[in-house]
Amino acid sequence: MKRTNGAMRTQVGIVGAGPAGLLLSHLLALRGIDSVVVESRSRAYCEARQRAGVLEDGSVRLLRESGLSGRLDREGLKHGGIYLQFDGERHHLDFRALTGGRTVTVYAQTEIVKDLIAQRLADGGVVHFDVSDTVIDQLTSDRPVLRYTDAGGNKHEITCDVIAGCDGFHGVCRLSIPAGLSTVREREYPYSWLGILADVPPSTDELIYAHHRSGFALHSLRSLAVSRLYLQVDPDEAIDDWPDQRIWDELGCRFDLPGSGWELKQGPVLDKGITPMRSFVSAPMRYGRLFLAGDAAHIVPPTGAKGLNLAMADVDVLAPALEALLKGDERLADSYSAACLGRVWRATHFSWWMTTMLHQTPGADAMEAELQLSQLRYVVSSRAAATSLAENYTGYPARPAATG
Ligand code: FAD
Ligand code: PHB
Repeated sequence: MKRTNGAMRTQVGIVGAGPAGLLLSHLLALRGIDSVVVESRSRAYCEARQRAGVLEDGSVRLLRESGLSGRLDREGLKHGGIYLQFDGERHHLDFRALTGGRTVTVYAQTEIVKDLIAQRLADGGVVHFDVSDTVIDQLTSDRPVLRYTDAGGNKHEITCDVIAGCDGFHGVCRLSIPAGLSTVREREYPYSWLGILADVPPSTDELIYAHHRSGFALHSLRSLAVSRLYLQVDPDEAIDDWPDQRIWDELGCRFDLPGSGWELKQGPVLDKGITPMRSFVSAPMRYGRLFLAGDAAHIVPPTGAKGLNLAMADVDVLAPALEALLKGDERLADSYSAACLGRVWRATHFSWWMTTMLHQTPGADAMEAELQLSQLRYVVSSRAAATSLAENYTGYPARPAATG
């Protein structure tokens, strides 16, 4: 950030220090482009917020190619498939065999955010935490401005060439686009996820997605010592009504495999919370000199493990587009939104499909239950159907290998 006669100046003003904003700031720095990130939460909050855990192989390669994979390569756990459980049976889907060797990597979003913040600060990047009153303005000029109040209560205004709205679903950037200039497609689901982080080694070698008459359950993990588990619950459930033992009992019931000897290991609950489920796409992802990326433009229900991967894929497209724009060539900036929305809609469909196949819809009739089971049986018995799931889960379209 440069200071000219007291006014602050940067090339790209970035709102939000989630994965999209931080990774964009890093990718721009690799191209010699100056940016300032403003974030309403504290650094500690951003580094501890429990969210996603599964990276597509394209996301891993993006982090590796941009020099961010030191800890990811040491600590990330490569997974070559998932289990689908229904009707009292657990079936393995072997992604490597189905997709010609593709995998996903279990590495928590908290760790990616820690790695990104550490790298930005080590490289001299500017990230302002604990800001308030973020406002973006003059978006159709070639000098948009970013205003905020810092943690000490001092007001600032930064003149930018471009603003990147990476401020998530509840942020201000998308709302700065005049009504009528964007199209919103949205679906709310009649259930939520209750998630826990538990200090206990996972009871499985790969993620288990379980369809059960009491509701969906997911067994994920954060490391070989820490498990992450989810339960489908009603949207109006209060977390206080779920003491730890009630959660373990319900998980035990939904993952139960009678006669198999398999057991769910229990341990101290480190964190728990309830997340609503929504599909949402706002298009286009650009308004003048404002570019939206990640959850600011689109969100998916977490069943397909896509939200974080989409955020990273957006900024992978945005960084070179902004580099060209700042050199006077607007072509990539003009095609940014369309380039992202193809992948976004594929992931939106896949996430909706996984969600509706695996959850119990309140009030659903016996017909819907049979249709879900038929779809699940098809996925685990047809190589074509299993390949479709595997191709989407590992990332579609696949990120091309780096050239040069
Ligand atoms: P975010 O991570 O939301 O980052 C946006 C940042 O902007 C935040 O740090 C926010 O504090 C900041 N901000 C907001 N408003 C302002 C403002 N006015 N000024 C300055 N800063 C602002 N995906 C999965 O794949 N699996 C999961 O299990 C999963 N669980 C999730 C649980 C929850 C509760 C949520 C909300 C999302 C979950 N997701 C999950 C989705 C995934 O975590 C997101 O897709 C991912 O975080 C998107 O990254 P982002 O950088 O676009 O947005
Ligand atoms: C997670 O580990 O948090 C996770 C994994 C897979 C999903 C959703 C969440 O589909």
